[in-house]
Amino acid sequence: VLVVRHRMQSSGKWAKAMDIVKEFDEKCATPIAKLRQVADAMTVEMHAGLASDGGSKLKMLISYVDNLPTGDETGVFYALDLGGTNFRVLRVKLGEVDNVKKEFEEVSIPPELMIGKSDDLFDFIAGELAKFVATEGEDMQIPAGTQRELGFTFSFPVKQSSIAGGTLVRWTKGFNIEDAVNDTVGTLAGGRYTDPNVIAAVILGTGTNAAYVERANAIPKWQGLLPKSGEMVINMEWGNFRSSHLPLSEYDENLDSDSLNPGEQIYEKMISGMYLGEIVRRVLLKMAEEAEFFGDTVPSKLEKPFILRTPDMSAMHHDSTADLRVVATKLKDILEISNTSLKMRKVVVELCDIVATRGARLSAAGILGILKKIGRDTVKEGEENHKSVIAMDGGLFEHYTKFRNAMQTAMDELLGEEASRNIIIKLSNDGSGLGAALLAASHSQYREYAES
Ligand code: GLC
Repeated sequence: VLVVRHRMQSSGKWAKAMDIVKEFDEKCATPIAKLRQVADAMTVEMHAGLASDGGSKLKMLISYVDNLPTGDETGVFYALDLGGTNFRVLRVKLGEVDNVKKEFEEVSIPPELMIGKSDDLFDFIAGELAKFVATEGEDMQIPAGTQRELGFTFSFPVKQSSIAGGTLVRWTKGFNIEDAVNDTVGTLAGGRYTDPNVIAAVILGTGTNAAYVERANAIPKWQGLLPKSGEMVINMEWGNFRSSHLPLSEYDENLDSDSLNPGEQIYEKMISGMYLGEIVRRVLLKMAEEAEFFGDTVPSKLEKPFILRTPDMSAMHHDSTADLRVVATKLKDILEISNTSLKMRKVVVELCDIVATRGARLSAAGILGILKKIGRDTVKEGEENHKSVIAMDGGLFEHYTKFRNAMQTAMDELLGEEASRNIIIKLSNDGSGLGAALLAASHSQYREYAES
């Protein structure tokens, strides 16, 4: 009798755990109809953000980049790329398109500088940059007395007042501190250098964001003179997008309220690398607490926020061994959970799949929103249909294959076969650093505006 009762209890617990998974799965569902609603909401918010400052959750920041590289730029340029926990200094020698010589160094930022005074952070960066410049070789063939030019991409929201000036809107991605180009703008420029069909750039990394080329006269909030090119790159700051159509679960809500920036960057918190592993951890914790999923005590490591990083989640998700050995090892090494059954490990993989798939499909919906805004989402009868290339950068897209594939699948479903042939998502590795250097090049000698 005791044995039977024990079995019934444990199967009751298993059922309870499966209920939690099922409920979560349902909350995260992203059928095509929902993705279309998200895309439409994105387009609507884009209009609102372009109409007036503060008109939308989407800041739609004017980048002051009104001409993009053509591929004809030459010379030596420097770039600084400050992103998540690292920054890069680059030196590029531009020649013919396929003859870019690039040298770079990656420096990690001491954690105390990430939450200290901005002066200390920038002093540190300047020091590292000076060291790097000092390594410039003869092969760069720079005439004596030449002033070096530096592009700076900064992957935080900056409200720019000119090409080389601006104020930080707020820190995101775990930075919290009291003149640059956004990384998405850099990626767009880097992409355009090698491909004239690039119309937008998306970052899917620690954070997520997008920039695209807008018609200057479609930006009502812009008071300045219209640029000759008639175009302006807009940094959307789409991470802050929010809509009632987003499939938010209780775990997302709790993650948000416990975060450094509650109420902000909701779209980013459902999509980007900083958060995906954390969402999985939160669901597992609930299963441990309410359904004794890992036995009668809750594993203490599982209570630690952000302990499960997205690269580890990705490794588990891609585990192709029959007994899910990678999952077992990760659970043991990171969460100190041993003796998991195959059945349990399968559930862990399923959770990774739910979270990654939702994020991937939502990012596809965001891209569709942009394409709609600029009229590139459909095939036009009797007209020449140009290719539209989205330059993509970020570790999440680059390394998380199942995420990338789920995103492409959603794009194809949303666009349909014909239109999706004209839309290409292209990995533009380190586009942002190269782009910064290119913008230093293309904005170095001029400033020409036509009278509006
Ligand atoms: C965050 C930042 C944004 C940046 C993005 C990608 O969303 O707010 O400025 O572009 O991360 O790095």
